[in-house]
Amino acid sequence: MNSTWSLQVVLLLLVLAVFLLVGFLHMDMELLLPLLSGQAEGPPVTNVMFLKTHKTASSTVLNILYRFAEKHNLSTALPAGGRVHLGYPWLFLARYVEGAEEGSTGTPRRFNIMCNHLRFNLPEVQKVMPEDTFYFSILRDPGYQLESSFTYYKGYVPAFRHVKTLQAFLESPERFYNDSLVVSNAYARNNMWFDLGFDHNAPPDEGYVRARIADVEQRFQLMLIAEHFDESMVLLRHLLRWSLDDVVAFRLNSRSARTVAHLPPESRELARRWCALDWRLYDHFNRTLWARLHAELGPRRLRSDVARLRARRQELTELCLQDGAPQNQAQITDRLLRPFQSGEADILGYNLRPGLDNATLRMCRRMVMPELQYMAHLYALQFPEKPRKAIPLLEE
Ligand SMILES: *[C@@H]1O[C@H](CO)[C@@H](O)[C@H](O)[C@H]1NC(C)=O
Ligand SMILES: *[C@@H]1O[C@H](CO)[C@@H](O)[C@H](O)[C@H]1NC(C)=O
Ligand SMILES: *[C@@H]1O[C@H](CO)[C@@H](O)[C@H](O)[C@H]1NC(C)=O
Ligand SMILES: *[C@@H]1O[C@H](CO)[C@@H](O)[C@H](O)[C@H]1NC(C)=O
Repeated sequence: MNSTWSLQVVLLLLVLAVFLLVGFLHMDMELLLPLLSGQAEGPPVTNVMFLKTHKTASSTVLNILYRFAEKHNLSTALPAGGRVHLGYPWLFLARYVEGAEEGSTGTPRRFNIMCNHLRFNLPEVQKVMPEDTFYFSILRDPGYQLESSFTYYKGYVPAFRHVKTLQAFLESPERFYNDSLVVSNAYARNNMWFDLGFDHNAPPDEGYVRARIADVEQRFQLMLIAEHFDESMVLLRHLLRWSLDDVVAFRLNSRSARTVAHLPPESRELARRWCALDWRLYDHFNRTLWARLHAELGPRRLRSDVARLRARRQELTELCLQDGAPQNQAQITDRLLRPFQSGEADILGYNLRPGLDNATLRMCRRMVMPELQYMAHLYALQFPEKPRKAIPLLEE
């Protein structure tokens, strides 16, 4: 009787101990997870090529890359002379890069970071970027991308010039779109496909589409998705082994609500059909992004990493920004922080909170600096002996 009782106690204690141990190990696994999943393995990746697509939140990514380059004193493949992009919309050539020809032994110089607008042309990119470069880009649902493009390039693109609204354009695009104007109409159809260096007027035949998507998969280690920006940043950070603050950014180059058109669902559908190549591209990489998020991070880690990213952005918003929100350019008191304006779009920027200490001011300024100004700043650092880039809006 007595021995049965003590046996039961021992058994009970044993079960309890196992439960505690499992609980403890589980907790420990959570703590160890970032280490186990490769976050801390090896130094951060510093050779990076970002294909900057148009109207896809890519200006925000550019700011992240510029800040990283400056922080680590990395070399950046900047546009030569007074140019503000790398030859876009023409196919990229190595000679569009400042200093590309200055390498020793007659070979072009290699850079760490490349991220300015260009039309992708791999053999030429490889002339200025090292072999172990990490390639990535960003895509957006063409239903929204085309709307942004229309507002931004309204007066510039022949296909958009003579039509009042995007809806009217989408009802009969053939009336306005001349596919002989390959380059000047690039913003009006399959613009992301064009940026990747492909024929944006090609018929969307299955075999062709699959072959080009396979090309992209082979070259680019990651395609970010603008609609899932924070999840994309979490995966990017994981793959590049960067710190949290490296990938925290404010939204740059956004439009005021007044200049964003809300298309009805039918028009979105028409836009996706008109830009069928871009839609296929987007649809494919939206799927693979989610598959990878699940495979490489898992739902629990993804949730917690996204929450950390958002919390840090909120902290920095409160620290750096006046009123915590983007401002109309007329309201931006510091001329250096006013973004470039285009078409009918009202491009927003930020005012900094007054009274910041020097170190904080330095960090906050870099987070809100519009891309042209930041490019001119990096150019001056990298090529102190060359004439400064004249950014028109800085000289008014
Ligand atoms: C940054 O890099 C350049 C060129 O690689 C070098 O000349 C310079 O001394 C570096 N500056 C700092 C602060 O490390
Ligand atoms: C399209 O553009 C080409 C080249 O400028 C021009 O020759 C042709 O007439 C245009 N077609 C139409 C329908 O406007
Ligand atoms: C992108 O993928 C997500 C997750 O699978 C899905 O919820 C979303 O609808 C997709 N977006 C589009 C536009 O298909
Ligand atoms: C902060 O910057 C101002 C202006 O550049 C300078 O005069 C001041 O000495 C700096 N303060 C500190 C603590 O470095």
